[in-house]
Amino acid sequence: MKMLLDKMKPPRSKLPLSIVAVVVCAFTFIGALYIEDAGYLNFKAKSCSKQEPTPHSHESKRVEQNVSSSVEDDLLEDVDGDGKEGFDPDSCRVYRGKWVFNASVEPLYSDTSCPYLDRQVSCVKNGRPDSDYRYWEWQPDNCILPRFDPIGALEKLRGKRLMFVGDSLQRGQWESLICMVESSIPADQKSMRRGRSHSVFKAKEYNASIEFYWAPFLVESNSDLHIKPDPNDRILRVDSVFKHAKYWVGVDILVFNSYVWWMSGLKIKSLWGSFANGEDGYEELDAPVAYRIALKTWANWVDSTIDPNKTRLFFTTLSPTHMRSVDWHNKKGIRCYNETQPVMEKNFWGTGSDRRIMDVVTSVAERMKVPVSFINITQISNYRKDGHASVYTETQGEVLTDEQKADPLRYADCIHWCLPGVPDTWNRVFYAYL
Ligand SMILES: *[C@@H]1O[C@H](CO)[C@@H](O)[C@H](O)[C@H]1NC(C)=O
Ligand SMILES: *[C@@H]1O[C@H](CO)[C@@H](O)[C@H](O)[C@H]1NC(C)=O
Ligand SMILES: *[C@@H]1O[C@H](CO)[C@@H](O)[C@H](O)[C@H]1NC(C)=O
Ligand SMILES: *[C@@H]1O[C@H](CO)[C@@H](O)[C@H](O)[C@H]1NC(C)=O
Ligand SMILES: *[C@@H]1O[C@H](CO)[C@@H](O)[C@H](O)[C@H]1NC(C)=O
Repeated sequence: MKMLLDKMKPPRSKLPLSIVAVVVCAFTFIGALYIEDAGYLNFKAKSCSKQEPTPHSHESKRVEQNVSSSVEDDLLEDVDGDGKEGFDPDSCRVYRGKWVFNASVEPLYSDTSCPYLDRQVSCVKNGRPDSDYRYWEWQPDNCILPRFDPIGALEKLRGKRLMFVGDSLQRGQWESLICMVESSIPADQKSMRRGRSHSVFKAKEYNASIEFYWAPFLVESNSDLHIKPDPNDRILRVDSVFKHAKYWVGVDILVFNSYVWWMSGLKIKSLWGSFANGEDGYEELDAPVAYRIALKTWANWVDSTIDPNKTRLFFTTLSPTHMRSVDWHNKKGIRCYNETQPVMEKNFWGTGSDRRIMDVVTSVAERMKVPVSFINITQISNYRKDGHASVYTETQGEVLTDEQKADPLRYADCIHWCLPGVPDTWNRVFYAYL
C-alpha cells in the first residue's frame, strides 16, 4: 500500500488553487483532492443557477397515492424479527424527511474501535474536535426507518456475497457497513483482505462476505488503478465494462455507484473499442452524455448476465459535495470547513449534486429488465454540509499538518464523509431495503 501511494504522488506544482466565481453553469475550478490509494480526483464544482428544485410533477402524485397505505403499514407485523416492522419499502419515500439531533443514540462504532477504517475518513483520529455531526438521526416524514440491527443484517447476509462496486464514496459505505457489524462478530470469526481493486471482509460463522470492488467510472478507463492526476489525461472506454464486470459474477447482492469522477468539469474523453486501436480515437463528450452511454453499457451487461432470481441489484444515488458555501448562504465560508450543523432549509439542494446525472441513472434503470433498487441518499446527504472530512483527513498517506489544516481553501475535503457519520445512515436505508 505504502509503495503504491509513493508511486502515485503527482507533482506538487500541479495542484490548482484558484477559485474563480463564474455564473450560470460555468465551471469553477476548485482543486485536486487526494483519494487515498486511488491518487488524485481533480474536481470542479459547477455553479449552475438553474438548479432550483423543480416541481415534483409525477413524484407528488405517487406520494399522494401512498399516503393511505403508509398508515396501514405501521401495523405490519415484524414477521422476520429483524426490527423492520412498520416499514414498507414500496411506499416509503425515505428521502423525504428531516435530520433530528439525538445525543442519546451512540454510533455503533468509533474510528478507534473499528480496525477497518481508512485514515482518510477517521476524522476523530485526525483531530476533529466537534462531535455533534455524529448524533443526527434521519427521520422520514411518512414512515419509520428501522434502526440498524447488526445481527439482523448479518442474518440477511447469511450464505451470501455482498459487493459494493464504485468509487471512494462507495468504499466509505462499505467500510461503514463492516464497522457497524464487526463488533458483533468474535475476533476468530472474521477476516479482512484488502486488495488494490478487490477487498473482502468475511464473517465466517455466517458464511457471508462483504466486499468492495474499485471501479470509479464503472466502465473501463486508463485511470482506474494507475490514476491520471490530470483529468485531461483520462480516457474512458465507454462501451466496455467486462474487465471489471467479470469480478461481479456470482455475487448475490450488488451495490453500485458512480458520480464524482465524472464531475471534473472538463469534457469526458470517450473511446469506443480498445485502447489498442489508438488512444487518439476518442470523442470529447459532456459528462451527462458520456455518463448515459457508460451506464447503458453497464445496464446491458447487467441485463445479459444477471439472473434477477439469484442476484439483487442496488444503486446508491450520487453523494453530494459541499464545495461552495454560498449554496447555504455562508458568504464567508470556505467550502465545508468549520461547518458543524446540517442545512435546515427544507429540500436544500446544492450545486454539488448534478440533477442531470440523477436523471440519467433513473431513466437508464427504468428501461432495464433487471430491477434496480435505489439507495436514494442524495437529498438526505445534501443537508449534511457538516459531515465531511474537511481538514481532518490525510494527504498522500499523511494526516494533514497543522499548517495544512490552516489552509482549508486548499486542503478541506468536502467530498468524503467522516466515519462514523453520514454513510451509516445510507446503510440504515440499505438495511431497510435488504
Ligand atoms: C432519541 O433516541 C431514543 C432512543 O432510540 C428515543 O427513545 C428518543 O425518542 C429519540 N429522541 C428523539 C428526539 O427522536
Ligand atoms: C457459503 O456461501 C457460498 C456463497 O457465498 C456458497 O456457495 C456456499 O455453498 C456456502 N457454504 C455453506 C457451507 O453454506
Ligand atoms: C424467475 O422466477 C420466476 C418464478 O419462479 C420465473 O417465472 C422466471 O422465469 C425466473 N426468471 C429467470 C430469469 O430465471
Ligand atoms: C473556525 O471555527 C473556529 C472555532 O469556532 C474559529 O475560531 C475560527 O475563526 C473559524 N475559522 C474560520 C475561517 O471561519
Ligand atoms: C431520489 O430522490 C429524489 C429526491 O431527492 C427524487 O426526486 C428521485 O425521484 C428519487 N429517485 C428515485 C430513483 O427514487
